Amino acid sequence: MTQFQHFIARRRLLAANMRSGIAIIPTAPEQVRNRDAHYPYRFDSYFYYLTGFREPGAVLVIVAASDQAPAKDILFCREKDQEREIWDGFRYGPAAAKDIFGFDEAYPISKLDELLPQLLADQPIVHAAFGHDPAWDQRIVGWLNRVREQTRTGIAAPGEIHDCRRLLDEMRLIKDTDELQIMQRAADISTQAHQRAMQTTCPGMREYEIEAELLYTFCRHGAQAPAYTSIVAGGANACVLHYVQNNAELKSGDLLLIDAGCELDGYASDITRTFPVNGKFTAAQKDVYQLVLAAQLAAIAQVQPGNNWNDPHQAALHVLAQGFIDLGLCQGSVDAVLESGDYKRFYMHRTGHWLGMDVHDVGEYKQKGEWRLLQVGMVLTVEPGCYIRPADNIPEHFWNIGVRIEDDVIVTPAGHEILTMAAPKKIDEIEELMQ
Ligand code: GLY
Ligand code: MN
Ligand code: MN
Repeated sequence: MTQFQHFIARRRLLAANMRSGIAIIPTAPEQVRNRDAHYPYRFDSYFYYLTGFREPGAVLVIVAASDQAPAKDILFCREKDQEREIWDGFRYGPAAAKDIFGFDEAYPISKLDELLPQLLADQPIVHAAFGHDPAWDQRIVGWLNRVREQTRTGIAAPGEIHDCRRLLDEMRLIKDTDELQIMQRAADISTQAHQRAMQTTCPGMREYEIEAELLYTFCRHGAQAPAYTSIVAGGANACVLHYVQNNAELKSGDLLLIDAGCELDGYASDITRTFPVNGKFTAAQKDVYQLVLAAQLAAIAQVQPGNNWNDPHQAALHVLAQGFIDLGLCQGSVDAVLESGDYKRFYMHRTGHWLGMDVHDVGEYKQKGEWRLLQVGMVLTVEPGCYIRPADNIPEHFWNIGVRIEDDVIVTPAGHEILTMAAPKKIDEIEELMQ
């Protein structure tokens, strides 16, 4: 058993699910940021899910079993290169990569154009993420044409093209034990980052100073990157859902909304906490906060195998609609507020998304027009909120209050488990931590 056993098992399962044909799955290219400076490298999620291999310049090929031969997997990767390794660092090279990562075969990436037409010959189906990267689409079409040129020698080109993402998305939607362990560690690091943010924040600081505390905590615990750009939004900025400027001054009397999570070993965490800059909630802030927390708890209670994807959202909406009426923000009955969509003035997003390698992870939300049922091993966020912009018909003490509370939740046989449980969210816990 190698540390890459999980990846080998996933490749075998994909080969079995393909039934026949050949899958071509490249990793992500390196990306230039400006002139000759690059963004930090991030592999492609599908490629990494199947390989555990983090170098750029690599392609996975999986050939499904046929009457003539068993299934096999092949890695194409960069060759060893002493000169480049002095400048850019270690490369496995095909021979070591084959042994360590457990591929059946491995070749230099420079052999791709020579070998792919041979591998495609007489295969019935090509499985690839067509449409994801036009350059790869072109390259695969070029190889197919090379095979077609040989038809008079009796070689046939694949007759069907399948999108391999359909199979892979279903696999990725249900997390295995290895993935859940990594996601718990990612959640733990992000939890510590939020705790540190609460302990550090005081009036007069700038949002980016708190962002620095988050990034520091991610980095010092070994997370490779933030899973998405951190939102550090004081006061009215919390009502801008995708606020990322993070440069305003934090004022006493305002709330601070932080939506931030690290990526660890390819897996995202995604936490939002909202707390008072000066450590004490005002009465109006308490009212709104308790409402959002009640909505979140009601939604989390709905995370159970057999419930459908939309049940947590519906539970949150009911609590929020009643609360908006009680606070005088909406008028009429709960049903009327839900029916008319009047609640959307204060809650305009949905209550969560799948979470995994990508922060908004893969997986269908509906199947044949019906909300999908929750299954053991799925991971989702639960993140209701309330955002109150100034308006004539809204009491002034609510103006510019923006609250969101977001946790990462696994569906388990008993119901659910909250990966981010340790991040404080009760009012007294937050006020105590901030003292
Ligand atoms: N941080 C992105 C989200 O909450 O969906
Ligand atoms: Mn989220
Ligand atoms: Mn988030």
